[in-house]
Amino acid sequence: MKKFTTISIFALTIFCFCFLQGISSKNILFFHSVATSSHRTAIWPLASKLADLGHDVTYIFAIDPQKRVGYHPKIEEIVPSKMVSIIKEFVADFDINIRLENRVDEWLQTVFTTAITVCEAFYDSPETQEWLSRPNLHFDLVLIDAGFGECAYGLVHKFKAKHIVFTPFVCGLVYDTFGVVPESSSIPDPFFDFMPNQITLIQRTWNTIAPLMWRYNILKYIEKLEPMVRDKMNMTDMPPIAEFEKNTSLVFHNGHFIEEYPVSLPPMFVSYSGIRCEPNKIKPLPTELSDFIKDTDTFVYVSLGSSVDVGKMPISLRNKFFDAFKSFKDVKFFWRWSGPIPQDTPDNVMLAPWFPQLDILGHPKAKAFITQGGRPSIQEALCHSVPIIAIPIFAEQDHNAMKLEQIDALVRLNINNISEDDIATAINEVLHNPKYAEKIRKLSNMFKDRPIDPLENLIYWTDFVLRHDTSLLKPLAMQQTWYQRRLLDVYGFLLLIFLTLIVVAAVIMYTAIRMCYYILKICLRKHKKE
Ligand SMILES: *[C@@H]1O[C@H](CO)[C@@H](O)[C@H](O)[C@H]1NC(C)=O
Ligand SMILES: *[C@@H]1O[C@H](CO)[C@@H](O)[C@H](O)[C@H]1NC(C)=O
Ligand SMILES: *[C@@H]1O[C@H](CO)[C@@H](O)[C@H](O)[C@H]1NC(C)=O
Repeated sequence: MKKFTTISIFALTIFCFCFLQGISSKNILFFHSVATSSHRTAIWPLASKLADLGHDVTYIFAIDPQKRVGYHPKIEEIVPSKMVSIIKEFVADFDINIRLENRVDEWLQTVFTTAITVCEAFYDSPETQEWLSRPNLHFDLVLIDAGFGECAYGLVHKFKAKHIVFTPFVCGLVYDTFGVVPESSSIPDPFFDFMPNQITLIQRTWNTIAPLMWRYNILKYIEKLEPMVRDKMNMTDMPPIAEFEKNTSLVFHNGHFIEEYPVSLPPMFVSYSGIRCEPNKIKPLPTELSDFIKDTDTFVYVSLGSSVDVGKMPISLRNKFFDAFKSFKDVKFFWRWSGPIPQDTPDNVMLAPWFPQLDILGHPKAKAFITQGGRPSIQEALCHSVPIIAIPIFAEQDHNAMKLEQIDALVRLNINNISEDDIATAINEVLHNPKYAEKIRKLSNMFKDRPIDPLENLIYWTDFVLRHDTSLLKPLAMQQTWYQRRLLDVYGFLLLIFLTLIVVAAVIMYTAIRMCYYILKICLRKHKKE
């Protein structure tokens, strides 16, 4: 009885506290544009938690509902059908061969035009139109995926809502937009894969230019996007997208100093790395999987990511993996596969289109994780302390892998020239050289050592945006131009002064020499006459 009273008083206190704090139910919208499943997976815990706390959450994500990860009974999902088919086509274009044929950069360039088509498809989809035509549709806050989410500013304007931008990693998509000058003298751009301690002058030059090229391409793309959004929403009064960008309340980014170089970011940047790390919530594996690993004490989990069609890899490459796996008689392998299951799959390998990845990595017999090295995968490995072999495919994966390789936290392989022997050696090393398990254990402890639970922190900042204006957190440089932010005008001015001084000095010297010459001439003439 006494316990019961204590509990009720405690509950009442919490209730009053929340009430006084003014936490009331708000309408919150999440919007993804050109995004792979990993973008959704990474931010889903926030949406889910906001719904648990009583907010009305709507989630816009263009993927086949059967294929999406994460479900919450109280979250309304809008799946714009026309957008789904365009994204499906775009992602299907990306198979592993693009990396094998060194066409990643070329493919990346097409993303700007795709983003415009995707946005058009969003507003044209019948699901979107039905949703927008609902009476009393209102949102207080929109959370926008930085991956070409500018399309959502039409919604922000319609609902007169505040907005937060979230980004899978800090890169050229966000630097100048939010007044951040990247530390390009020392930190490699996420799309470059050189080591910061051996950076050359040429690499630093590329490193400096790359974010500017991103920004230039983004501005070109926004120029085309803006009139289209205005038109689709019938909003002739919609201000330029650049104004919405300046009004962004906060930027949530998925980075932590273990997976990222130690980078300085303004107070408006809040990290969400680690919000999926809940080692206590691991569920037992389904019987089919647990039976497979019954007679072994070691298994390796292989997944090259949800967006890479591994089934399309050349058979010769597939056989290198199979042969390497076959040589580990006492080890079982789970491989997240796409497409038909090959006949010659070794007995110790199970291929499936989907695995309960967190439960697998959280299993005590999981001794290695072969991954493409995307941020969420690295974070899962850190969370569950599983040694990593990284085989980067695209985006920031090479960068992530090199960062961690540098501190001996993983073994990195290059898929372009990988051999059966490389794979076997890497597995052997990670399974049997204790330095990898030891290192990941230390990093895992550090990763989870936080002053506040990362998800609680994110909820706090989301509520903060609902309660306050965040102008005071924004970098002043947000109001400046790209060259003012980099002090290029100051250096230009100094150069001008320097050049002027040189010219003035040169003129003075020239005049002086001429004068001396004349004086000398006159003297000489006089001398001759005498
Ligand atoms: C814009 O106007 C057109 C024609 O008046 C209409 O068909 C369409 O539904 C409107 N769109 C929106 C988003 O209000
Ligand atoms: C930006 O915020 C200011 C101040 O709240 C507001 O007056 C303005 O309309 C906003 N601009 C846009 C484009 O939302
Ligand atoms: C594979 O390529 C990488 C970089 O292109 C190189 O550093 C490495 O030495 C190559 N490995 C082999 C086995 O050729």
